[in-house]
Amino acid sequence: MAVIAIYSAKGGVGKTTIAANLAWHASQEAGRNTLLWDLDAAGGAGFLYNVEPVANRGSAMFSRKQDPEDLMWETGYPNLDLLPADASMQQLDTQLTQIGKKRQISKLTDKLGKGYDRIILDCPPGINELSAQVVRSAEIVIVPLPPSPLSSRAFDLVAQEIKRLGKNAPSILPVFSMVDRRRKLHREAVEAQSKWPCLSYSTLTEQCAVRHQPLGAFAASSEPATQFSALWKAIDRKLARR
Ligand SMILES: Nc1ncnc2c1ncn2[C@@H]1O[C@H](COP(=O)(O)OP(=O)(O)O)[C@@H](O)[C@H]1O
Ligand SMILES: [Mg+2]
Repeated sequence: MAVIAIYSAKGGVGKTTIAANLAWHASQEAGRNTLLWDLDAAGGAGFLYNVEPVANRGSAMFSRKQDPEDLMWETGYPNLDLLPADASMQQLDTQLTQIGKKRQISKLTDKLGKGYDRIILDCPPGINELSAQVVRSAEIVIVPLPPSPLSSRAFDLVAQEIKRLGKNAPSILPVFSMVDRRRKLHREAVEAQSKWPCLSYSTLTEQCAVRHQPLGAFAASSEPATQFSALWKAIDRKLARR
């Protein structure tokens, strides 16, 4: 089992879109038994899979009496389950700080991992107790970066946070997101880091939120779907080397 966190200190950088699409490639293309766990109160990952939030269901995961099995939603795709978020998760960071145990998320991913090969975490933005726990639980942290100096700064912050974990630190994979090669700044940023995976800005990708479907389900041979597929393969290779 491996945990893959999609995380950035910044919002609006493509985390949810990436988490939802990678979950599709992990489960449908690579055949891994996959769980997509939405940790953001905004509930975007559920929205992309057409799952309505149910009050308090997201934070119920953190109750000791709760059996996680009862909270899972089938997405309608084989091998792919979803643990949706709801507004109650806005308090999650405060709750984790109050509980005072640094491995709450890791304990839950260990427990959930008995039924899955891959757990993909869609994280809220911010640097706080929740993000620290997410990073501690993950084998790989994917950091989406629209090519701009501000997002490079956000990446440096995440990289510093991860390095603090020393030898227990997860691998970190920066990914350019929403790349528009017509823009000079984007071309220059991508050329300067030619080894980082790249996801183009695409109206098809935007359509995921309109259709409530990942790209693989409605535009499997499109350029953006091919990029997500390549990104999933790069992640699987990285996991194999660990
Ligand atoms: N590659 C892309 N091309 C075009 N639009 C994108 C792309 N990735 C994300 N978006 C859009 O950008 C917005 C923010 O994306 P989202 O995944 O919600 O980011 P985050 O989870 O980091 O806040 C959404 O409207 C989404 O549809
Ligand atoms: Mg999001």
